[in-house]
Amino acid sequence: MTKRQAKKRAPLFSVEDRDNLSWLWAHYLRKRAPLLGLVLAMILVQGLVYQQFLSLTETGLRVIFESGDVAELALVCVVVFFLFAVRGLMSFLVPLVTVRVSNAAIYEMRRDLLAHLMSLDLAFFERTKSGEIIQKFVTQTQQLGVFVGQATAAAVRDAVTVFIVSGYLIYKNAILFGAAVVILPFIIWIMNYVSDRIKQGQTDAEAALGDYMNGIEETMNGMRTVKISSQEDMETSRLLKGTASIRDLLTRVQTTQALMLPAIDLSSAFVYVLVIGGGGYMVLSPGFDMDGAGIITFLLGMVMIFDPARLLAQFFAQLQANLVLLSRIRALYDEAATINDAPDAVESFDTSGDIVLEDVHFSYSPDQPLFEGLDMTFAGGRVSAIVGATGSGKTTILSLLSRLYDVGSGRITIGGQPIDQLKVSALRRAFSVVAQDIVIFNNSIWENIRYVKPEASEAEIWEAAENAEIADLIRRRGDAPVGPKGAQLSGGQKQRIAIARAFLRDAPVLLLDEATSALDQATEARIKSALGRLTRGRTTIIVAHRLSSISDADTIFVLEAGQLVEKGHHEDLLDQGGLYAQLYRAQKRGYDAA
Ligand SMILES: Nc1ncnc2c1ncn2[C@@H]1O[C@H](COP(=O)(O)OP(=O)(O)O)[C@@H](O)[C@H]1O
Ligand SMILES: [Mg+2]
Repeated sequence: MTKRQAKKRAPLFSVEDRDNLSWLWAHYLRKRAPLLGLVLAMILVQGLVYQQFLSLTETGLRVIFESGDVAELALVCVVVFFLFAVRGLMSFLVPLVTVRVSNAAIYEMRRDLLAHLMSLDLAFFERTKSGEIIQKFVTQTQQLGVFVGQATAAAVRDAVTVFIVSGYLIYKNAILFGAAVVILPFIIWIMNYVSDRIKQGQTDAEAALGDYMNGIEETMNGMRTVKISSQEDMETSRLLKGTASIRDLLTRVQTTQALMLPAIDLSSAFVYVLVIGGGGYMVLSPGFDMDGAGIITFLLGMVMIFDPARLLAQFFAQLQANLVLLSRIRALYDEAATINDAPDAVESFDTSGDIVLEDVHFSYSPDQPLFEGLDMTFAGGRVSAIVGATGSGKTTILSLLSRLYDVGSGRITIGGQPIDQLKVSALRRAFSVVAQDIVIFNNSIWENIRYVKPEASEAEIWEAAENAEIADLIRRRGDAPVGPKGAQLSGGQKQRIAIARAFLRDAPVLLLDEATSALDQATEARIKSALGRLTRGRTTIIVAHRLSSISDADTIFVLEAGQLVEKGHHEDLLDQGGLYAQLYRAQKRGYDAA
């Protein structure tokens, strides 16, 4: 957060803050109103205990100074002890209840955030840093929950204490109290000044911490590249720089915090001197109704409200930071998914029908159109292939079919049914996909295959694994996890897991995006015959680099910079002598030479 934004937050509650708070109340707190009421009642009891204690102390002191009745003094002592026992009991019960309230609220907030997050479009995850999402889920919800529960309960207790005890002191001696609180504006000014600086420093430190975390994640993930290019020293110094700036920022914050205490001490000295001097003068002058017991009690009262008042001021500083958190968390809810079920979406459709793109326009960003009127027909039950240079839009076409993205205009139909009128889940169930960037979880190979069909039988999984030539590896590795993102596997092994998933999933439409690019020719040849069985009678779309591997496709589409430039059978395309023929000859020369 910048200085300017910190300034903008200056009013204690902006309209947005109030809106956010009422949202928080409505969603997570209102249902717990009875418990919160109980907490409030217990807090009130705590405040009253202080007031009673003061009044009893005054009585006790008068007994000592004046009547000298030991029995009465003993009674005062017993009652004082009892009062503090009650306060102690409340101090035990209040956190007991508030912890429950806040942890339940944190749980619900995370649950709702998670459900919302899962509903968001793929595009959201491609533009949002994962660190940012992690921060929302882990620290920000936790901090906010604790603030709403424990911190707020403590603040209410402090406010009640200040309120009740001040009321009692005013009732006892309004003039003296008035004199003592003239210092208040000064204290508040110091608090504001210090807490402003703390908030600023804290925000900077948090941002630095976030960058630092991102940096570590990036370096660890890119360790292969770091080592190959011998950039360990550079990475070390980059991360050290982050650590140093965190050190400096935190030192600054904590130094500022240290300023607070002497300021408080000095101002309390001022107040005590005023009370002792002014009160003492009142005791000595005949015109005032004040005695020694009164002034000691008064002083005691001032001591009792000082700390709560200080904590209350701190609470308001924290409040500002937490209002920022609240608005950040709520901002995630403002992210709306655009790829949803239409109101009248249907579940069933002809999954074996033609897949047709009609006048499809699409762009990832408005200033860079990718498809401008693309027309394609992938025949149902047949094998189609898409070829073209990298970046020509092959993967994007596959993404559009399963609605990972929606077309800008035009439409895509399957079996005559526009895909945006289908239930998204039903549409996606129709696809087996071997994606270009394969996602492997840190689990056994077996579990990684099973991921796409958790209810599959053991025999089914073995069959899929055999077909994808990965069964031997499963037998060798057993249940050993494959490392984060499958780091312990080769590119080809990952691809074979992905192919096994496609076999297991057994969906009516098969999308293969460079599915065999990382395999050696011998393995590819063996898998190809299995894939041949898999594609039989199934609508299949193959994106391939190696043109020799798609020469028997029923239709080949040639793409160039988002435009369909050629289509037809392998032989026809060769005869045409266009881009395809050119690419094919270039590759053939390459292989022959090799
Ligand atoms: N998630 C994305 N966000 C923005 N641009 C993208 C994204 N994915 C791909 N692109 C861009 O769209 C174009 C087509 O990409 P893609 O369909 O992956 O090509 P291909 O699969 O043919 O190599 C490229 O210029 C690429 O940079
Ligand atoms: Mg691609």
